[in-house]
Amino acid sequence: MSASLPSGLLVSGLLAYCRAGFEKELAAELDELAADAGLIGHVRAKPDTGFVVYETFEPLPATAFEGLTDWRRPVFARQLMLWFARVTDLPERDRATPLLDAVKGSGQRFTELVLETPDTDEAKQRSGFCRRFTEPFARVLEKTGALRTGKAGLPVLHVMFESATTAWLAAAMPQESSPWPMGIPRLRMPGGAPSRSTLKLSEAFMTLLGEDERTATLRAGLRAVDLGASPGGWTWQLASRGLHVTAVDNGPMGDAVMATGMVEHLRADGFTWRPQRTVEWMVCDMVDQPSRIASLVAEWVATGRCRRSIFNLKLPMKRRLDAVEQCRALIRKRLASVGPYDLRIKHLYHDREEVTAYLALRK
Ligand SMILES: C[S@@+](CC[C@H](N)C(=O)[O-])C[C@H]1O[C@@H](n2cnc3c(N)ncnc32)[C@H](O)[C@@H]1O
Repeated sequence: MSASLPSGLLVSGLLAYCRAGFEKELAAELDELAADAGLIGHVRAKPDTGFVVYETFEPLPATAFEGLTDWRRPVFARQLMLWFARVTDLPERDRATPLLDAVKGSGQRFTELVLETPDTDEAKQRSGFCRRFTEPFARVLEKTGALRTGKAGLPVLHVMFESATTAWLAAAMPQESSPWPMGIPRLRMPGGAPSRSTLKLSEAFMTLLGEDERTATLRAGLRAVDLGASPGGWTWQLASRGLHVTAVDNGPMGDAVMATGMVEHLRADGFTWRPQRTVEWMVCDMVDQPSRIASLVAEWVATGRCRRSIFNLKLPMKRRLDAVEQCRALIRKRLASVGPYDLRIKHLYHDREEVTAYLALRK
């Protein structure tokens, strides 16, 4: 993957989006990633702006960021890009010319253009402008040869309007970056699902699993357990794919979910109940201490009760990263003697004060 980073592009650092209010956590993650990779620079993050910038001491070839550009790695990043220009004092009447100059100055060609803003109420006032400006600006870029729409092997050009007069230009390789503008998947609420949290599991399937994993593990006939299932939004995601679901919760399940005929509802304690046979999936959305949930999931995976799990970890208001690290450490300790495993943790768009994680032993 790293071979596909644009070798001729001079990069000034990393640009990442997050939910407003999580800049501090994302900044700490970027700082650590960059330091581990031996980069020298500093991170800039303002509270509630919805984005974080890491700036290297001097511009470096994009290849210096090898291994750092996968947006799935930092938990709190919705999108992760290599920024190469910050254009200020954009005139209201002609924003295109200075932006075009900056793109041309980079000497880089791109496969797609995305105009976006951070995800804040203030910034979103510019989303109408972004929509209107995309097509004409893409045409100008195509004319100069900087944009070759659809050409494989080239990065996507992101233009992020921090304000009406300041924009950041960044490159992202399609296979390493979030496929959604602003890193936000626009998911439609499915008809039969009884709660909006159904969208969280749907997003988790798209974000935490590869396409092959989805095909292999989310298919008719497999068995799943949903701990803390009521009223059934997560269960619905599994049942509607043809999985047989044991839904564990003292609370009631929605009628439409039960009407699928794929669900057995057990009024039991999700912390102590165990299945008789190995199931493909255990999903867990019980609201409890994150360390308690992480230990429970690690136990299921370690003892072969389930092959894989997606679970929610509610975060404390302070020291959120520490809470995530504590869960990682608990899982590492429990699975150390069991075998190698995949643990992927993301702050999804549909998450608020929580993160969603995937855990499975590696084959
Ligand atoms: C956030 S809700 C789950 C929403 C569900 N995932 C959905 O999509 O509709 C949390 C649920 O966990 C359940 N719960 C909390 N502690 C539990 C326990 N010890 N055993 C079983 N269920 C529990 C609650 O009753 C509640 O219904």
